[in-house]
Amino acid sequence: MKFDILTIFPDFFHSPLKQGLVGKAIERGLLEVALHNTREYACDRHKSTDDAPYGGGAGMVMKVEPIVKGIEAIRDGADEKVILATPQGAPLRQETVREIAGFKKVLIVCGRYEGVDERVRAFVDMEVSIGDYVLMGGEIPALIIIEAVARLIPGVLGSALSAEQDSFSNGFLEFPHYTRPEDFRNMRVPPVLLSGDHGAIEEWRRRESRERTLHRRPDLYEAALKEEKKDKGCL
Ligand code: 6GU
Repeated sequence: MKFDILTIFPDFFHSPLKQGLVGKAIERGLLEVALHNTREYACDRHKSTDDAPYGGGAGMVMKVEPIVKGIEAIRDGADEKVILATPQGAPLRQETVREIAGFKKVLIVCGRYEGVDERVRAFVDMEVSIGDYVLMGGEIPALIIIEAVARLIPGVLGSALSAEQDSFSNGFLEFPHYTRPEDFRNMRVPPVLLSGDHGAIEEWRRRESRERTLHRRPDLYEAALKEEKKDKGCL
């Protein structure tokens, strides 16, 4: 899978893309990330990528030409989907991550400043936000999209099962995990996990996963129950 990133801060990405399993995935050729500087597509002498907003007001707006010229130069035909990272986009959920993982090539456009010229929207396939708060640019969101997608690429995680078991993949949060020691300051590992009874362990994990979702994320719980009933053909 290939990502192109259009950003005014390509250096931002160097270290994060070297770390951990994302770094390994790139090394092993399972994932490719190409960085492109928006400034290179600027039209004027000063290579400006932003300007004052029409109508006045605080802050700067990213200019339409460098971004659209960049998209047109980088995009590899209709095969490549263009995602605009913006707080006004659709909230990124595991479902969206799965959809993006289904694309062969993705170009992520990172906005900065107060936003991008509205006319950029006509040149993108999808707008994504990583949550209801405002960041200074789309660079961290782009890294989040890459990392979330990378773990779904076959061969990137140790086992296919770990991606399937994770929080959100079945709509519920994941069950609690423990490793050695058995007793830490009198906080003990639940005995069932030491019992060797795989049926009982599975049942305990299933119950914990549900209880945890109900308490922490009642919004997810209702949706996940409905999804499950649908899968079982009950709805
Ligand atoms: Cl994708 N961009 C910016 N600038 N802020 C955000 C965001 C994206 N998602 C949440 N906040």
